[in-house]
Amino acid sequence: MKQLFLLFVFLFTVNQVKSQENLPTDYLTKEFHKGRREAFRALMPANSVAVVFAYPERVFSKDINYNYHANPDMYYLTGYKEPDAVLLIFKEAQGTEKYNEVLFVRERNTAHEMWTGRRLGIEGAKSKLGFTTVYNGKDFKDFAIDFKKFDKVIYDAIPTDIRNDKSGFDLFGLLENFKTKAAINTDDKAPIESFADITSSLREIKTPEELVLMRKTVKLSCVAHNEVMKAVGPDMSENEADGIHAYIHKHYGAEGEGYGPIVGAGANGCILHYWENNATKMDNQLLLMDVGSEYHGYSADVTRTIPANGKFTEEQKAIYQIVYDAQEAVFKICKAGTPLVALNEAAKDVIAKGLIKLGIITDPKEVKLYYPHTCSHFLGLDVHDKGTYKGPQTVIKENMILTVEPGIYIPANSKCDKKWWNIGVRIEDDILMLKDSYENLSAESPRKWQDIEALAKQKSTFNDMKLPKI
Ligand code: GLY
Ligand code: MN
Ligand code: MN
Repeated sequence: MKQLFLLFVFLFTVNQVKSQENLPTDYLTKEFHKGRREAFRALMPANSVAVVFAYPERVFSKDINYNYHANPDMYYLTGYKEPDAVLLIFKEAQGTEKYNEVLFVRERNTAHEMWTGRRLGIEGAKSKLGFTTVYNGKDFKDFAIDFKKFDKVIYDAIPTDIRNDKSGFDLFGLLENFKTKAAINTDDKAPIESFADITSSLREIKTPEELVLMRKTVKLSCVAHNEVMKAVGPDMSENEADGIHAYIHKHYGAEGEGYGPIVGAGANGCILHYWENNATKMDNQLLLMDVGSEYHGYSADVTRTIPANGKFTEEQKAIYQIVYDAQEAVFKICKAGTPLVALNEAAKDVIAKGLIKLGIITDPKEVKLYYPHTCSHFLGLDVHDKGTYKGPQTVIKENMILTVEPGIYIPANSKCDKKWWNIGVRIEDDILMLKDSYENLSAESPRKWQDIEALAKQKSTFNDMKLPKI
């Protein structure tokens, strides 16, 4: 009997190990996540507790969900990537056991796991994520915590549009229990601001571990942009270009993209967040590709604008050069200490002067017509990452990553010579801010029009791909 039991344990262990074989080995470590919780705790006021919920699952079609995406704050603080979970972080140690954090996870369930995938469960959260105090979500309701005894309960905005599976311990149930236990008044914005302030001040500065993943996600996105530059031609569809990006991201181990890819030719390139990507061919138009991978949670955000036939027209080149010059002007002031708002001012100034010179506008105020966005945002776990945006007093700090992404978009029927119509150009790079300078993490993908034309002459591995006609 004992041998039989040992055989069972052996087979079970082998099976477990096998099922976890061939996984990436460069995920963030449990020490990283623990360090982030400690940094979070250090910023909490005395006698406070923070409550962090998983993101809800979302319907894609009837009974099919979108692939689940973890709440970046939950992932940052725990590494836990499943729904229906809640994390408590205490400023001071609690109870006789002296715990200062508790994670409530989805309970393991063999039948559910056969349908929708493995769950970490309590044991996994302990061994893989390094937590010592872990319960199943269903235990949250009766967990002994008196929120009233804390001077501050810190939590994020509570979503109101989530599904209720009526179990009482899905996210809906966890939130209801929290609201009851803590007697939450959802009109009280103070805890939400505290949560945003703490998470922003942490996440806007990248740690060395995060920089490794950021370099990787940006680098592989550049490889994808470069391959499309070589492969593209007037007969290629927007979706095919999108697909080449996706294939290359996955080839290098990315989970997917950090945001919906924007792959638009001509008029479509003038739609800032175009997403259909369904034009069947690009002809001799400009192709604007704003595509970045998500690698172990970290998003790149790279835009290149290229002529689909490999050669810029004079008009395309003139607009492109202004956007390029705007980027260069911004790069000159990229370093710690520069006010964040100065980046956009520098870009706007170059674009306004350039458009006036070409006779497209006459007054600098009109620049908004063709450059309607700003130049920079934080980048990291979210493509529009958390960070401090508090007006002119907010300055750039070392190890922030910001995009630099000026653009000019001239839709048809704009009040200018129609030779400019349907030209849309954005160039976007991911910039690591240093003490006295910067590093362009996306420098591997060419930006100069001459370099883009030269790369377009090279052959792509995708040019030889032969698929049957259907
Ligand atoms: N890809 C979205 C943006 O550039 O902000
Ligand atoms: Mn961006
Ligand atoms: Mn972008």
